[in-house]
Amino acid sequence: MLKFVSFAPMNIFKLKIHFEEAGKEPVEFPITQNESVLDICLDNGIELQHNCGGVCGCSTCHVYVNKGMDNIQEISDKEEDFIDRAVNPRITSRLGCQCVVFNGDIEVTLPDQHHFLGH
Ligand code: FES
Repeated sequence: MLKFVSFAPMNIFKLKIHFEEAGKEPVEFPITQNESVLDICLDNGIELQHNCGGVCGCSTCHVYVNKGMDNIQEISDKEEDFIDRAVNPRITSRLGCQCVVFNGDIEVTLPDQHHFLGH
């Protein structure tokens, strides 16, 4: 007897990444529901520091969300606390590991990662 397995349709959105670092052109990647900006960066060789391993325990994965803030999970009190410790936080600041997409496209800017490397 044949059995059919059905999978829930996977929503695929678009993640556009800009870089503060001079000379780096913006890049675009597909991002699926429940993936984070940090996940996509690590999967694609994009340098984004992540000292705590992506568990909202540091501020090194700090990014700026330019578009699509409503398309990522809400900010938690813990994340806000860590953003306060980030380099140059702004109103659009989020932590890349906590930017989990659930509803649509997003666009972010990665701070210059040399801040974290001592250059
Ligand atoms: S990697 Fe530490 S908070 Fe995101």
